[in-house]
Amino acid sequence: MCGIVGYTGSKQAAPILLDGLERLEYRGYDSAGLAVRNGDALAEVVKATGKLYHLADKTDQGRSLPGTCGIGHTRWATHGDPSLVNAHPHVSGNCSGSGSGQVESDVVGVHNGIIENFTELKEKLLRHGYAFYSDTDTEVVVKLVDYYYKKYKIGPVDAITRTMVRVRGSYALALMFKDYPGEIFAARKDSPLIIGTAEDASFLASDVPAILKYTRQVYYIDNLQVARIAPSSVKFYDLNGDEVTLPLTEITWDAAAAERGGFEHFMLKEIHEQPQAARDTLNSLIRDGKIDLTSAGLTDDTLRSFEQIDIVACGSAWHVGMASQYVIEDLTQLPVRVELASEFRYRHLPIRKDTLVIVISQSGETADSLAALRVAKERGAMTLAVVNVVGSTIAREADHVLYTLAGPEIAVATTKAYSAQLVAMDALAVQMAYVLGTISNEQYGHFIEELGAIPDKIRRVLEDKERLQWFSSKIANAHDIFFIGRGLDYAISLEGSLKMKEISYIHSEAYAAGELKHGTISLIEHNTLVIGVLTQSELFEKTISNMVECKSRGAYLMGVTTNGNFTVEDSVNFTVYIPKTDEHFVSSLAVVPLQLLGYYTSVNRGLDVDKPRNLAKSVTVE
Ligand code: F6R
Repeated sequence: MCGIVGYTGSKQAAPILLDGLERLEYRGYDSAGLAVRNGDALAEVVKATGKLYHLADKTDQGRSLPGTCGIGHTRWATHGDPSLVNAHPHVSGNCSGSGSGQVESDVVGVHNGIIENFTELKEKLLRHGYAFYSDTDTEVVVKLVDYYYKKYKIGPVDAITRTMVRVRGSYALALMFKDYPGEIFAARKDSPLIIGTAEDASFLASDVPAILKYTRQVYYIDNLQVARIAPSSVKFYDLNGDEVTLPLTEITWDAAAAERGGFEHFMLKEIHEQPQAARDTLNSLIRDGKIDLTSAGLTDDTLRSFEQIDIVACGSAWHVGMASQYVIEDLTQLPVRVELASEFRYRHLPIRKDTLVIVISQSGETADSLAALRVAKERGAMTLAVVNVVGSTIAREADHVLYTLAGPEIAVATTKAYSAQLVAMDALAVQMAYVLGTISNEQYGHFIEELGAIPDKIRRVLEDKERLQWFSSKIANAHDIFFIGRGLDYAISLEGSLKMKEISYIHSEAYAAGELKHGTISLIEHNTLVIGVLTQSELFEKTISNMVECKSRGAYLMGVTTNGNFTVEDSVNFTVYIPKTDEHFVSSLAVVPLQLLGYYTSVNRGLDVDKPRNLAKSVTVE
């Protein structure tokens, strides 16, 4: 989704803004723009469609835009097509064309999010003589701020809070006012925004990597708060316009973690970081041979108090939920429901008070997951967030937070955060089972030992990557790929299929292997690739039979199975083996070849692996 940066200090702003936007590219965008002020002069606005280098070229890498205070934006189109006129920044003035250049305006701004009542607000502003040059909801907000600014004449914070009261939806806004040179004003509701502070300079951004090169000191601005930033001061206000104090947080992760570090793509780097992500996450939860969830506020008594688990998430995080369902149910005998957050939030599901609602999210900002969390809290359930981004909205609003320690994930397609979520959920399942008494002391010890061995086993799976690279070159022209499995293997298939389709653009579907005969098998043709996941010994023969049924209708078969299951080669054309592990935890290993297959297929097709078309890293709109 859109990315926002802002800088005010003593250096030239434009190169810093461009650098920040480049680090937010992973969020997905289709156009970009800057507004920079040179002292008291009006802001100069420059926009470009397409990749960021067009904007960099247009501004001579920022050098042709003098000024030490500015805002920048990468736009992921929601209202209006991805054109120059709709690109941000937007201005409050009456202008023809795209709103570029020095437009006589009191307010200029950028926005991430969606203003739901923008039509109604636009009509109001039209009645008050405003004219609109774009189709965006952002231009409406900028003009609404301008309207209140002029009507009440109390200053930017007042104009912004009045606007916040009128708009419905989500926003992270950064605004500059003509009468306040050297200052940037920001506001936030349900869209990510951080404020950074350094000696003689202040920053704002949608995410930490954008400003990490300049500072590690950040404020996490809360929902419905306003920030006022100047080179050497940062102030925060609530909706009443009263000043509030926020804690300063030090970012501890390494800046190099957000760089490619010699890998061709972030995705490949992050695939290789999975042993570390799983190890760090497990180390934070396992101490002296015991699982300790007290850092998430989950004491044994709390864990004992639930009769039902609901897991809510989107995309890959939902797939983690699907895998965890099998593990938690099997180990604890508690009923587990797994719901898509976008459905859950509108479904009026009965939620009992003794339910633990677990929201899984890498970014902690996914709009549907956040809304689902709020629904669960309203209905009286206790909530646990399994989140990667520290200080994110979901982490702050949930009753309990279990952090995954995957570090910053840049590639749009998640890999290491997914793996960290899996092991975190596995540890939770084992601890719940232990305190509920559904597993013995011996089993508890065995599970902890097996979990501890996962990171090294992931590393061993990665050693087989050349074979997958080779195989992917054979399937690069496939039209359809089917991923099948039963039980946990079905959950793994879901993730394998998503990884394939989202970055290679090859149509793929995941099916519970037993469901094929109920319709889908009619799609199997000569050479259709069917990938079977075969890690559950109890279900192995069943899934093999389903694969063979496909083969006899022309399918080409690939299997992912556990080392030692060599009979699979009697039926399957290409086999990948993963190390033996306790079958509850196999997802962490079996997913890796499927991630690699998706990755290499995308590379073979010459696609933009890290930033696939139409996708955004953090989906902060509905
Ligand atoms: C797919 C992918 C997405 C995310 C989903 C949820 O590779 O990354 O499906 O898993 O958008 O995002 P988070 O985990 O940030 O809530």
